[in-house]
Amino acid sequence: MSGKAWSGRFTESNSPLFEKMNRSLDFDIRLFKDDIALNKAYSKELHRLDILTADELKSIHAGLHEIETEIEEKGIFIFPEDTEDIHMGIESLLTAKIGDAAKKIHSGKSRNDQVATDIRLYITGQVENIRNELETLLSTILKLVEDNQDAVMPGFTHLRQAQPVSFSHYILSFFYPVLRDFERFTDSLKRISIMPLGSAALAGSAYHLNRENLKKDLGFHKISQNSMDAVMARDFLMETLSNISILSLTLSRLAEDFIIFSSEQYGFLILSDKVTTGSSIMPNKKNPDSLELTRGKTGRILGNFVSLFTVLKGLPSTYNKDLQEDKESVFDSIDSIIDVLRVTVLLIETLKIDKNRMKNSIDPLSFATELADYLAKKGLPFREAHHIVGKIVLDCINNGKKLTDLKEKELMVYSELFFSIGDDWGTIDTFLSNREISGGTGKEAVSHSIKEAKVLLSKINNN
Ligand code: ARG
Repeated sequence: MSGKAWSGRFTESNSPLFEKMNRSLDFDIRLFKDDIALNKAYSKELHRLDILTADELKSIHAGLHEIETEIEEKGIFIFPEDTEDIHMGIESLLTAKIGDAAKKIHSGKSRNDQVATDIRLYITGQVENIRNELETLLSTILKLVEDNQDAVMPGFTHLRQAQPVSFSHYILSFFYPVLRDFERFTDSLKRISIMPLGSAALAGSAYHLNRENLKKDLGFHKISQNSMDAVMARDFLMETLSNISILSLTLSRLAEDFIIFSSEQYGFLILSDKVTTGSSIMPNKKNPDSLELTRGKTGRILGNFVSLFTVLKGLPSTYNKDLQEDKESVFDSIDSIIDVLRVTVLLIETLKIDKNRMKNSIDPLSFATELADYLAKKGLPFREAHHIVGKIVLDCINNGKKLTDLKEKELMVYSELFFSIGDDWGTIDTFLSNREISGGTGKEAVSHSIKEAKVLLSKINNN
């Protein structure tokens, strides 16, 4: 017969094979602070209900405090090998420390509401951490934008040169999705910070717990409204994994661009030695591993998202042990995204930009739309204008000519409407100034956008 808390109705011990499979301590040890906070708050309620004396409450709190310090210092080694999970582990350590009073702390609760409460507390804290990292990332992005307002570069679609853009405009195209990621995490908190405690196994606790006291003590926003829902709901974990996946995708896109733009062929960006590696055979190499890992980890993060959905699919109502499988994927995604966020910040902070190379890489043909727009504004239907300029482009390619070198006179051979276009129609300054539309790449538009971004960022910082 085993010494397990639930062994009363058993005549045989668990097989070591199954014990190993059943044990979650190796990963749910992460929840120790949350589990101890829960037990502290809960024992106060038990004292209010006269289930614990004042002395018992005191020794429970002191014992829990000691256990917390011991776990911080020595980790998992303080638990006996056959410990099932963090909840049983802490309870049995407490019993060993203070004796019988510890055996009362499970009155009116179940590990079902306990684990759901612990994990909601833990995820709330981790979402706060992610939000902090995102704030740092947003200000790092904005600094890069502000410091390089004079830089211009080719803009791409299909990874082919499309139209020139300002470098600041390009980098701002990452500020907004990251901001949306931040907002998604913020919004999720109201669905995460809901307290299941008091739901017990599934039907609600038979003790007159004051759940409002518990809520306040543990710092939750709300209490759950249905005990059956409370012990089974894991949608807050799906939402967190979804938010992490979307964020990871944003960062993966940045990583992919920066890998391309820092390659020898492009040479727009120079990555710092702090975030690159060498080759074990080729002395010349400097590889963008930090960016590649950012991109690669997105695969794993998305896998974790799919993994949790698959675990939850088709479960019958309330607690099933499958739910123990909800943790590792979430923990892994949180760890990965925090690493990725920190490395991305470091990478941007240490990034160097070759402005000349970027500017000189702009393909003159990418000014072609300027000509079509000019004709269309003079009254020619855009489709016809497009066709005429297509011919000009083709002639340039065939005759080895630079489109932007074509003077007004040469253009008028293709259409009289080019009259008065001037010889400077194909400069980057003209191109940008023609795009002074809100959200566009014109200089004024971008500096307006920077101001707006700063306001948005300061709102976040003040919250
Ligand atoms: N280790 C379990 C988990 O993570 C705790 C809850 C166990 N509940 C139960 N009824 N066996 O889900």
